[in-house]
Amino acid sequence: MCESNGLIREFTVSNWTQIALIGDCPPGTSLEIIHAGRVVALYNVDGQFYALDGICPHQGGPLGKGSLSGCIVSCPWHGWQFDITTGLNQINAHIRQPLFDVRVEQGAVFLREDQDTPT
Ligand code: FES
Repeated sequence: MCESNGLIREFTVSNWTQIALIGDCPPGTSLEIIHAGRVVALYNVDGQFYALDGICPHQGGPLGKGSLSGCIVSCPWHGWQFDITTGLNQINAHIRQPLFDVRVEQGAVFLREDQDTPT
């Protein structure tokens, strides 16, 4: 599937689905994507992409709209912070936000589809 409305561009290659173009999420920024009923928070740190479950475990804030400082995202609602490379909360190591596997290919970011739940 490919839509050209500028908001959703998806096509599936094997079990990976394109969720964004790399230009949609420049270095040092984040992007909230609704994909297959899930909220995905996509981050670009110096050209390396990471993705977390986009719903903050505190009270459901949008982690894809948080501020990014290096590898740390701060939830825009109450400031909980997570390392986007591990999902670990920066105050309580017992809280880990699930991660999605993503990869970059030919100028696009793909999310692995065979993740029933993020890891
Ligand atoms: S909802 Fe994210 S810190 Fe409260």
